[in-house]
Amino acid sequence: MLKITTIVGARPQFVKASRLSAALKAAGIRENILHTGQHYHDRLSRIFFRELKLKKPTLNLGIGSMAHGQQTAAMLAKLESCLIRNRPDGVLVYGDTNSTLAGALAAAKLQIPMIHIEAGLRSYNRTMPEEINRIVTDQLATLLFAPTRLAVSNLKKEGIRSGVHFSGDVMADSLQHFLPIAMKQSAIQKRFRAIHHKYQLLTLHRPSNADDLSRLKKILWIIEKSGVPTVFPVHPRTQKIISKIRGKRSNVIFFIPPVGYLDMLVLQKNAVRILTDSGGIQKEAYLLKVPCITIRSETEWKETTQHGWNQVVGRNLDNLVRFLSRPAKPGKWLPYYGNGKASTKIAKTIRHFFKI
Ligand code: UD1
Repeated sequence: MLKITTIVGARPQFVKASRLSAALKAAGIRENILHTGQHYHDRLSRIFFRELKLKKPTLNLGIGSMAHGQQTAAMLAKLESCLIRNRPDGVLVYGDTNSTLAGALAAAKLQIPMIHIEAGLRSYNRTMPEEINRIVTDQLATLLFAPTRLAVSNLKKEGIRSGVHFSGDVMADSLQHFLPIAMKQSAIQKRFRAIHHKYQLLTLHRPSNADDLSRLKKILWIIEKSGVPTVFPVHPRTQKIISKIRGKRSNVIFFIPPVGYLDMLVLQKNAVRILTDSGGIQKEAYLLKVPCITIRSETEWKETTQHGWNQVVGRNLDNLVRFLSRPAKPGKWLPYYGNGKASTKIAKTIRHFFKI
C-alpha cells in the first residue's frame, strides 16, 4: 500500500487537508499526518480537526512559536527523524507556512518525493515569509499541484515545468463540502442576527499589519470611523498587540476570539463585505461572492481582483478610506478555483505517479 506522510501545522493547512485526506483514503492511499505544533492554540488547531473530521495526527511535534529560523530549524530536525523512522513513499505539504518549508526540506534532504499542494502562488514580495517558503518549496517539489492557470504560468517563469499539474483549489473543495453543514450547525448566526448582511468581517494577522502598532491603530481607527458594524475574530498574534492599544469599548467593532471553520464560513457568507490580509479568506470571499478589501500591498490570488470582487489597498491606507466610502460593484464571476473536485484529481495523479 502506498504510504504518504502529510505535514501540517497551521490553521489554513487543516482546512486544505480535510477533503484531500478523504480523497487519499478513497484512493486506497495510507496517510500518516504529522502536526508540527506551529499552531497550538485550541481555537487555531484542535477545533479544526474536530469540525473538519480530520484524521488525528500520528504525532504532534509540539514546536510552537519561536523566531522564524529557530522554528523552521526545530521542525526540520524533528521531521527528519520521523521520516527516517517511517520511510514513507512520499511527503505531502500544503501552502506556504514555516511548516511547509520544514517539511519540504526534510523530504528533499532524504530524497523522498515531495508533493506540494497550492504550488505556483506568488506575491512577488520577498519581505513576506510566505513568499520565501513558496519559492523554496516549489523548487524542491517532485509533484506540484497548481490551483490556477496563473500559478502554472508563474512556475513556468521560474523554469519549473516537470511534475506540474493544474488541479483546481482544494479550499474550494472544502468550502463546497462544508458550507451546507455550517449553515445548519453554526450557532454564530444567532449571535449576530441583528446585523445580518449589514456587517463587515475583519481579519488581520500578517506581520506587515499585526506587528506594526501604528499601522494597526490606523486601520482600526478607519474602520471605527466608517461606522459599519464590524465583526473581528482576533488571531492570537494580533491579540498580543491589540491588548496594548485597546482603550474604551468600541460600539462599531466586535472583537471576538478566533472562530472555527464552520463559524467562519457563516460569518463570511452573511457579511456585506470582508476586510482581510489573509490569502485563504480572499479566496473564500470570492467563492462566496462577497466583495473583499485586501489590506496588503499585493495579492497572490490575482484572479479575485479581475472584476472588482477584491480591491487591494496597498501601503497607503487612504485607499482603505476610499474603498469603504465608495463600495465596489463587482461584475463578472468566473470559476477560477475549479469545480470542487481538485482533491479527487490530486489523489488520482498521486496514485498514477507512484504507479499503483
Ligand atoms: C502562520 C503562517 C501564515 C498563515 C497563518 C494562519 C508562517 C510564516 N505564517 O502565521 O502564512 O497565514 O499562520 O493563521 O508560517 N500564536 C499563538 N497561538 C497559536 C499560534 C500562534 O498564540 O496557536 C501566536 C504566537 O505568539 C506567535 C504568533 O501567534 O508568535 C505568530 O504565530 P506563527 O505561527 O509564527 O505565525 P502566524 O501569524 O500564525
